Amino acid sequence: MSAVLLAFNGPQAGEWIEALRAHAGGRELRVWPDAIGNAADIAYACVWLAPHGLLAACPNLKAVINLGAGVDHLLADPALPPVPVARVAHPDLAARVTEYVVLHVLMHHRRQRRYDAQQRQRLWLAHDQPAASEVGVGVMGLGVIGSHAAAALGRLGFNVAGWSRSPKSLPGVATFHGEAGLDAFLARTETLVCLLPQTPDTEGLLNLALFRKLKRGGAAGGAFLINAGRGQLQVDTDILAALNEGTLDGATLDVFPQEPLPPESPLWAHPKVTITPHNAGDISPRVFAPHVMAQIERFERGLPLDNLIDRTRGY
Ligand code: GLV
Repeated sequence: MSAVLLAFNGPQAGEWIEALRAHAGGRELRVWPDAIGNAADIAYACVWLAPHGLLAACPNLKAVINLGAGVDHLLADPALPPVPVARVAHPDLAARVTEYVVLHVLMHHRRQRRYDAQQRQRLWLAHDQPAASEVGVGVMGLGVIGSHAAAALGRLGFNVAGWSRSPKSLPGVATFHGEAGLDAFLARTETLVCLLPQTPDTEGLLNLALFRKLKRGGAAGGAFLINAGRGQLQVDTDILAALNEGTLDGATLDVFPQEPLPPESPLWAHPKVTITPHNAGDISPRVFAPHVMAQIERFERGLPLDNLIDRTRGY
């Protein structure tokens, strides 16, 4: 039977090996870098940040499954074979990113960083607290994950808008799209949540000019940025400039143009910045492995893979 290659570049590699083995049925698992064996046996590849060129060395490859939502690294491989590519999209992934988004929207909304600072000073002092319905939250990127997050924010009562490349309609969410819809979306957004993929169109999008178009002076008491999309979308020096000039009142960043974020980055110590190590969408191999192997079984039976990516669109 055709073998499955696992090429996972990251700390969860061991967990993936164990989980995929447990769900492999009779299928042979070949593990990069040490146990690829004869590359001609490999029909399927499950990859995360695998070295470019690796897949081109598998002459009988039939399909690739990206073990994460973002396919930017995979599509940047100039030798990526012309086979179908799917990414994991599972309710668990959307739920995890939604947890992250809700946590940080609420953290800014409830002024938690201010209360943390006050606690260190043993200061008992309540600040004005607007209602969620008074606060405009805008989600950029309305795919499986973004629409899930927007719906959860709506259930909390926020005044939610969404922006996407092409038109989308979501219950209870004011939607905007394309270049033409961007300014109106930003003008009613106080807390901006970015879940966009990295494509040539989105690189550098989160810059000072865009931050200056956000709504300020509303109930939220400032404008806030949450980026759990991709680091290449944001210009770190512009985030710092926006925070320092008062255009932004806070930022939560899970992703950075350079990861890990270098220790000398001024973002680490900025009092208005919250940093996490690109873990908003971390998934458990034990939850995803059955789904990945089921996809391969379906494909073998002639059915299409779920969540196929469109190479020309870039996600
Ligand atoms: C994480 O960043 C992912 O793309 O799944």
